Amino acid sequence: KKRIGILTGGGDCPGLNGVIRGVVRAAVRRDWDVVGIEDGFDGFLHQEKCRLLSLEDVRGILPRGGTILGTTNRGNPFSFPIMREGKIELVDVSDEVVSRIELLGISALVVVGGDGTLKIALELMKRGVPIVGVPKTIDNDLLETDVTFGFNTALETATDALDKLHSTAESHHRVMVLEVMGRYAGWIALEAGIAGGADVILIPEIPYDIERVAQAIVERGRRGGRFSVIVAAEGAYPKGGSRVVKEAAGGKSVVERLGGVGEKISHELGGVLEMDVRVTVLGHLQRGGSPSTFDRCLSSRFGVQAVELIEAGSFGQMVCLKGRQIGAAPIEDAVRHLKLIDPDGALVRHAEELGIMLGR
Ligand code: F6P
Repeated sequence: KKRIGILTGGGDCPGLNGVIRGVVRAAVRRDWDVVGIEDGFDGFLHQEKCRLLSLEDVRGILPRGGTILGTTNRGNPFSFPIMREGKIELVDVSDEVVSRIELLGISALVVVGGDGTLKIALELMKRGVPIVGVPKTIDNDLLETDVTFGFNTALETATDALDKLHSTAESHHRVMVLEVMGRYAGWIALEAGIAGGADVILIPEIPYDIERVAQAIVERGRRGGRFSVIVAAEGAYPKGGSRVVKEAAGGKSVVERLGGVGEKISHELGGVLEMDVRVTVLGHLQRGGSPSTFDRCLSSRFGVQAVELIEAGSFGQMVCLKGRQIGAAPIEDAVRHLKLIDPDGALVRHAEELGIMLGR
């Protein structure tokens, strides 16, 4: 009997359970076994973390946020953190992972992840593991797919926050800064900012000029707008300046942690504007909760497509959405570099046509 594996890696994101359910349902129809690996690649190092997934296991999980398999962004088998004599050392455990995959009888592996996880998948492919990728991230920063699942739900959360901030901003005649996620990309900030009617949107792709931002708020005040709402992507930074990088608590994180730009902007504006400035950091609320209708449908279809690719023997491919078509593209092309917003593209131009100030 054919046996495939599935794991979810990197930060969680709404829709992961939809993919898992889609894979299990489509595999069971083909009479295949599915092994779920818990906590990303990490799970291969622990026998008890690899378990068969039945239809029963995936029942009712479609509307649930997170991942029933668990995840971690500390599970790179080529650079695996191991505690030795009270110190963390990075060790290559890939041999162990590859032989575990063979021992489990897994003939193909579905890897659901963002650019970090998919790059690891590519390395494992080189070691002979047949892999199909599924693009996951609220940041929407993967090439070769119009959108990743999870992005739409994050947008809904950020837009809802903007709606709520508007009413309190208006009552108090304040400037409200909403800091959203997105890492080095401004997709969440720009699209939620447009949807939520923001006055100013600051994204990493367009380094901002704080004096111009202040000027725009003052001018808006002259035209009768006694409050302003600013969306700042966590990766945004001033012209000639640099990103704000947070110390990870306990120094445990292996990925750079951004954040604090909202506080920085509020401080800078507070110094020049007469209005009160307040900051809201939306944080992990953007990653949690039930996936939107769009993400439920997309993640389910991605799961099915992953099984279809395995059936066709198309390994090294990542499922994707182009226009309204679900398709596939080489993982290699998807992770070549991050997909960022074109500062001269239509999305930015349309935002500016709407009267939104983009920090320049
Ligand atoms: O990549 C997804 C993401 O949520 C980014 O938007 C954010 O910078 C990062 O992960 C936060 O990571 P952590 O969960 O480690 O705080």
